[in-house]
Amino acid sequence: MQDAKERVIEVFDTTLRDGEQTPGISFTRSQKEAIARQLDKLGVDIIEAGFPISSKKDKEAVKSISDLGLSARICGLARLRTEDIDACIDCDVDMIHIFVPSSKIQREHTTGMSEDAVKEQTYAMTRYVKSHGFECMFSAMDATRTDLPFLLDLYRVAEEAGADIVNVPDTVGVAEPFGIYELVGAVYRTVKIPISIHCHNDFGLAVANTLAAVKAGASQVQVSVNSLGERAGNADLAETVMGLNAIYGLKTRIKTRYLFETAKLVERLSGVQIPVTQPIVGENAFSHESGIHAHGVIKRSDTFEPGIMTPEMVGHRRRIVLGTHTGRHSIEKKLAEVGMTPSREQVEEILERVKELSASGKKVTDDDLYSIAEVVTGEVSKYERAVVLKELSVMTGNNVIPTASLKAIVRNKECKSAQMGIGPVDAAIRAIQDVIRGEIGGDLKLKDFRIEAISGGSDALAEVIVGVERGDRLVTARGVREDIVLASVEAYINAVNRLMQE
Ligand code: KIV
Ligand code: ZN
Repeated sequence: MQDAKERVIEVFDTTLRDGEQTPGISFTRSQKEAIARQLDKLGVDIIEAGFPISSKKDKEAVKSISDLGLSARICGLARLRTEDIDACIDCDVDMIHIFVPSSKIQREHTTGMSEDAVKEQTYAMTRYVKSHGFECMFSAMDATRTDLPFLLDLYRVAEEAGADIVNVPDTVGVAEPFGIYELVGAVYRTVKIPISIHCHNDFGLAVANTLAAVKAGASQVQVSVNSLGERAGNADLAETVMGLNAIYGLKTRIKTRYLFETAKLVERLSGVQIPVTQPIVGENAFSHESGIHAHGVIKRSDTFEPGIMTPEMVGHRRRIVLGTHTGRHSIEKKLAEVGMTPSREQVEEILERVKELSASGKKVTDDDLYSIAEVVTGEVSKYERAVVLKELSVMTGNNVIPTASLKAIVRNKECKSAQMGIGPVDAAIRAIQDVIRGEIGGDLKLKDFRIEAISGGSDALAEVIVGVERGDRLVTARGVREDIVLASVEAYINAVNRLMQE
């Protein structure tokens, strides 16, 4: 490491620019604003809000993000052209990120510019940005495939022209950590201004390369939420930040407790689902199923978790998941949480049934476990349902706002609600949440919603699994119906009823 450990690494988020270049993603302006607000809450230093010259829509979105008055600095992207830079200026950004293809292959087949022309234009456009009083970042696009002496010369030119920071993009993701360390080290010895690093994930090395660059002297990392970005995406924000914090002992200004909720927001708005095995924010990141692991974690979490990173640090939660590999300790622990203390023989019987259910291809929910345990222990009569659905109807179609009307008995009282939603399932869940809120309270949160299976043809069974949270308790439950809306409401009610169980 070439700098003192005390240095704070800046986080430059490009979810709204490179991230939006993910094939198939196009955020609306209000979605972009919601993401920008969340990034600000998370504590990113710079938000690259878009590429204003690329479209009217992008320009308007960048301007509206600049107008939000966030603490993060807002950055706009521009080619080495005055009209691009002017578009950024029109958006009232704080920082302008200018870039130019620098590798031979990109120069010859895109801009047709010679090395000298690239240097001249870099000088002129850096001056142009600075003469308008903006912070200027200069990127030599495809730096990792650019002839090194020319690349270093180019960064020198940008520095001489007044650039505030130079960026080293691994545009096509071909770098590896040792190479990046050498390259960034060479840039570090060439210029005195700060260095940023921008890595793509074509070989799955974006985060490793980003960390290696920091080790070589980069003081800013360019990342995106859920690693959205061109092709295989950019370096993931959560992985990079936690790698810097927990492994390298370096500071950022990120409030890591918001990492999980940020990832979930971007998942919802982008429509790109987070894989269950995704580090840090994936569903399984702190989940344990196998008997040996769960037993260890129940006793002491760092037996089978990193320890230097806990679910609390990143706003996630630890889960003991039931399945074919479950052991006795998991069953005992989960039942003890709801006040059940089956005998040793009963635990063995419950375990056997849980494994059978899992082996039949079913995901075992908490509600399944409690039902099995009630049957095995004979405690079934104690369970009274706080919520019972009586009637549900939904109206949906291409010309109406989906609306659900619902009647339910909540704690022995008949309640009704009609709600609109993004789709019929959303409307129905809002309606059941509304009646429950009135009678039970508003502290129930829907944390997971998964359509697990729809089998067969158009008359097939739909299976929905939800996770509902109240305080520090989360309960999973299932709903299975021919009708996906009913299956969803049933799963929600089943989870709520379990949470309300005394
Ligand atoms: O990948 C890349 O080179 C870029 C530049 C615009 C920095 O996204
Ligand atoms: Zn990029």
